[in-house]
Amino acid sequence: MISTVMLRTSVILLLIGMTLGIVMGIRQDFALAPAHAHLNLVGFVVMFAAGLYYRLVPAAGEGVLAKVQATLLIVGAITFPLGIAAVLTWGPAGFEIFAIGGALIVFAAVALFAWIVFRTTAIRTVGIGRPAGLSLPI
Ligand code: HEM
Repeated sequence: MISTVMLRTSVILLLIGMTLGIVMGIRQDFALAPAHAHLNLVGFVVMFAAGLYYRLVPAAGEGVLAKVQATLLIVGAITFPLGIAAVLTWGPAGFEIFAIGGALIVFAAVALFAWIVFRTTAIRTVGIGRPAGLSLPI
């Protein structure tokens, strides 16, 4: 189930992001704060929210589009903060591509998510999330 993968991935990224925050605090070196922030916000907040949506509206998570969306978000949520950290540590030469590429992948994932949300928010759910026998042609 796509929501399971996203929810589990998001809490693992949160643990890594918080560990980075603790290390920054211990070392009193906050240079990697933007990488920490984006790992926590994209990797946990956005991914957990999307995972919850797919759990709430199972039909939204059943199509190929949702699998592509989840894959893009997972790849982007890792590549983007890593790219930011690499640029902050070693400079833009050679590493900028990971930050920019990661940002574009995350944008594509969120744009796809917006499309899925618009297509599925009208679905009537019974109780907590089971759509009334509906699956989407996506
Ligand atoms: C164990 C948990 C956490 C620790 C120890 C921690 C630690 C830190 C530290 C040391 C900074 C840098 C502060 C500075 O530049 O003066 C920071 C910045 C930040 N953190 Fe965390 N953090 C934690 C969890 C989180 C979570 C869960 C989120 C978001 C969901 C978050 C979002 C941010 C943001 C947005 C910034 C500002 C980044 C910037 O200024 O570029 N943090 N955090």
